[in-house]
Amino acid sequence: MYAIAASILSANFARLGEEVAGVLAAGADWIHFDVMDNHYVPNLTVGPMVCAAIRPLTPATIDVHLMVKPADRLIPDFAKAGADLISIHPESTLHLDRSLTLIRECGCEAGLVFNPATSLDCLDYLLDRLDLVLLMGVNPGFGGQSFIPMTLAKLRAARATLDEYEGRSGRRIRLEVDGGVKVDNIAEIARAGADTFVAGSAIYDAGKDADAHRYDSVIAAMRAELAKA
Ligand code: DX5
Ligand code: ZN
Repeated sequence: MYAIAASILSANFARLGEEVAGVLAAGADWIHFDVMDNHYVPNLTVGPMVCAAIRPLTPATIDVHLMVKPADRLIPDFAKAGADLISIHPESTLHLDRSLTLIRECGCEAGLVFNPATSLDCLDYLLDRLDLVLLMGVNPGFGGQSFIPMTLAKLRAARATLDEYEGRSGRRIRLEVDGGVKVDNIAEIARAGADTFVAGSAIYDAGKDADAHRYDSVIAAMRAELAKA
């Protein structure tokens, strides 16, 4: 039931294809694809062309995290580029219900992302539109930041909401956490209710200056921690 999504934000972009294949061979379940526009967040990354370039490398889920404003313009482009799942932030679009509907109309699963200071209130009106809820463990924009401990209480609240929803609808919505996830806190994050874990620097930094096998040990260590949770 647990999924580990490797964030390629911390990969070596000069050999991105190998970095994608390397983490999946080492046991990551999903590829997490961070899209930043230097407007919604103060950083700039990659767009649909790069998603389309990695799509043929793997059947694994490509989990696109849009940190762009406005978001609607790019949703069909990422669907065409092979995204399986597209997540957006409530602050990044004027008409959130419409944007989430658009993601599904484009054939993708839909996710909603909450920044550390964003209330979960709007979730109540949107559960039917969602396949995934993502709580940020850091402020979005950069890899390698420290996990904000308040996220644990928020995870417990989101877990309760999603369990209650599953009880009445029969539909399970994934609960993902992104930012600051490491071997030494992943079990605590799982106990707070997360089932899907994005890790960027924790995975890719373990492989820096070494062969790709180094990813095996960090992902195995995360799975061992999850088994204890
Ligand atoms: C941050 C991104 C994250 C980032 C996480 O805005 O959304 O996906 O890659 O990086 P780590 O795991 O290093 O905190
Ligand atoms: Zn992300």
